[in-house]
Amino acid sequence: MSKRRTLVAGNWKMNGSRAESAALVGAVKRGVGAGVKAEVAICPPFILIPFAAETLAGSPVAWGGQNLSIHKSGAYTGEISGPMLRDFGCSYAIVGHSERRAYYGEDDQVVAQKFGAAQAAGLIPILCVGETLAEREAGTTEAVVARSLDAVLAAHGIAAFKHAVIAYEPVWAIGTGKTATPQQAQAVHAFIRGRLAALDQAVAGGVRILYGGSVKGANAKELFGQADIDGGLIGGASLNAEEFLSICRAAD
Ligand code: 13P
Repeated sequence: MSKRRTLVAGNWKMNGSRAESAALVGAVKRGVGAGVKAEVAICPPFILIPFAAETLAGSPVAWGGQNLSIHKSGAYTGEISGPMLRDFGCSYAIVGHSERRAYYGEDDQVVAQKFGAAQAAGLIPILCVGETLAEREAGTTEAVVARSLDAVLAAHGIAAFKHAVIAYEPVWAIGTGKTATPQQAQAVHAFIRGRLAALDQAVAGGVRILYGGSVKGANAKELFGQADIDGGLIGGASLNAEEFLSICRAAD
């Protein structure tokens, strides 16, 4: 099977003033328009999404939310729903990021609900999975990743992965400058694809599995060259237009 089209998604996390965001979105739009072949998306903080939508409309750069509510609407103070994100032109919503799991108590069941809420609104969920350092050292990486995948499979079935992206983000590699080696990442990506392939070969073959965790221009090419790595979910480096664009170009 030919390699799936690479997706490079920038997760800005809770960063960016209006002025910084204007400069960043503009530079990414120009750089991607100048001939990046990979699909590119940015996920700014909610409050900056209307601005991103206005700037990026008609460009090849897509945008998405970093999170969403499990509910469609109603008395859920402080929450943002899938239909609201879709209304502002979002294509994607990140679900189950390790920071949501660690700081906001989102477990695999909540994440599975968010995955379903995203799809119900016409968004493509980017489902994040990954182990902590203690879990890796205890040899439980595959068990942790399997548990997160299985919660979504139990709730929504294998067919739901026709319209989803998975991101393998080892917690120990996020924001630490410590990247998984291409071989370490590939091993987990192959495990993820294999687990889906046991249920449906075609779905497993088509789903994009991104790597996230200290990806930079300098290490992106080797990571993206692995058979089961179909792009990246980029944190810190997505806040610097030149660095982010060099990662996008490494995917070509
Ligand atoms: P860093 O690229 O800053 O390590 O963050 C990765 C990440 O969490 C993307 O969602």
